Amino acid sequence: MIATRPTSVLFVCLGNICRSPLAEGVLRHKAEENGLAEQFLLDSAGIGAWHVGNPPDRRMVATAHSHGTDLSRLRARQIGLEDYYAFDLILALDRNNLADLRKSQPRDGTAELALYLDYCGLSQRLGFNEVPDPYYGGRDAFEDVYQMVDEASDILLQKLR
Ligand code: 4NP
Repeated sequence: MIATRPTSVLFVCLGNICRSPLAEGVLRHKAEENGLAEQFLLDSAGIGAWHVGNPPDRRMVATAHSHGTDLSRLRARQIGLEDYYAFDLILALDRNNLADLRKSQPRDGTAELALYLDYCGLSQRLGFNEVPDPYYGGRDAFEDVYQMVDEASDILLQKLR
């Protein structure tokens, strides 16, 4: 068997407690289910530092748990300069996140930067290209985000494997 280097992907949202840990956790879960865990190095980070060290929002943990994905052991961290060299791909969950990433991107950074739903090719069908922030929303907002990320992760798994 030919040993290939794993593809490394960093998911980035504002706080790293709702959307990006979900994107990380769901893709990891699907990779594991398909025997592809070793092909990926997955992580997530926030633009802001407010929640550094904290587990994901309990509403996001509960929603993911109801669909079979455990997020409870993840801990928030803030994006750092080294991430622009360490990862193959950095996927921003919304346009503000992408704009902030581009502002901090070092000239010689090697990571490809993209908007999550654009990269997955879902934006056209959905009619929008951002995963909305559920933080100030109700239970439906978390479920909607889960459904979007679930579909996007199926595509990502095929695209990156
Ligand atoms: P996330 O959601 O970016 O999906 O993790 C947020 C969580 C917390 C805050 C903003 C967004 N906050 O301002 O504390």
